[in-house]
Amino acid sequence: PSSRLVLGIETSCDETGAAVLDETGHILGESLHSQKEVHLRTGGIIPTVAQQLHRENLERVVQEALERSAVDPSRLSAVATTVKPGLGPSLGVGLEFSRRFVRRHDKPFIPIHHMEAHALTVRMLRPVAFPFLVLLVSGGHSLLAVARGVNDFLLLGHALDEAPGDTLDKVARRLSLIKHPRCSTLSGGQAIELLAKEGDRTRFPFRTPMGQTYDCCFSFAGLRNQINMTIMKNEAEEGIEQGTLLSCVNDIAASTQHTVASHLAKRTHRAILFCKANGLLPSNSPTVVLSGGVASNEYIRKALTVITDATGLSLLCPPAKFCTDNGVMIAWNGVERLREGKGILPPDVDVSYEPK
Ligand code: KG4
Ligand code: ZN
Repeated sequence: PSSRLVLGIETSCDETGAAVLDETGHILGESLHSQKEVHLRTGGIIPTVAQQLHRENLERVVQEALERSAVDPSRLSAVATTVKPGLGPSLGVGLEFSRRFVRRHDKPFIPIHHMEAHALTVRMLRPVAFPFLVLLVSGGHSLLAVARGVNDFLLLGHALDEAPGDTLDKVARRLSLIKHPRCSTLSGGQAIELLAKEGDRTRFPFRTPMGQTYDCCFSFAGLRNQINMTIMKNEAEEGIEQGTLLSCVNDIAASTQHTVASHLAKRTHRAILFCKANGLLPSNSPTVVLSGGVASNEYIRKALTVITDATGLSLLCPPAKFCTDNGVMIAWNGVERLREGKGILPPDVDVSYEPK
């Protein structure tokens, strides 16, 4: 019972999450409410709708996490909440709730950077020492960084336009995959992964982005344009209207997934070579951590394994439920901060959120 307990709260995007963890990373109780189905029906996240759904669910989600862990708020050592980056209106709900909560229960407050939390989650599951290379790929982010410490990241590359999950979601929407009998409840990325299994990835040889750019940044807008042109051409050839399922959807899905995987793998390869040249990773068991919603894609994982195997690194990827947004990863980040004694604020502090 001497272990300190942290309540984590996540509302940065479309998941309302809360969890109570002890200092060893043991999950005492958690609760998660996903808005994904609602946003799937409207063809994307409408920020005010996301905000409203967080408002409707956050109190209950926190209550459930506390009840399932059988922890009274008085026993908490701190409350950790995502304050950036994310959708402003969504972040605001978590922050407002947390402000009131920490004042009422007189608890320290730990503001959390959502990407830091994604990057550190793996350390909750197994002992991964700093420094390690991390690739975070989700609907909102694409970045490569060297994690040197709990709040010490060297950013090697970021998304110049859209994130890979966003690209997959938009392609899926353009292909009307929601009308596909096997894809009606799946996110864009999941739908593309499923259809790609039966597709020919060589049928549409899309160009891998940024072949001539010698850095570790990502770009997906040009690829999406190539894909859209191909879709239009095939709609014309089949004489069908936009919104009707093309007969070649599986091949488009496979070619899309392959090109996204290839871009991510090539950028990661560059990052590994850069780290090696500059001694940024330990010579003893260097590691790449892969996380974010897109990391649940098996094909992408395999593509990255090819790169890590060839360069003598190991690839670690948390199970899918910890790759996507949740309260557990925020609570874990709070534990890591608490252990280091860094970024812990008094209950009456006036924290504002930073949407970007
Ligand atoms: O991390 P996440 O739950 O939310 C944020 O964006 O922060 O990631 C959601 C994204 C969506 O764009 C979704 O299409 C993508 O992750 N995704 C996938 C897969 N499952 C989810 N992308 C590719 N393959 C998957 N299996
Ligand atoms: Zn996320």
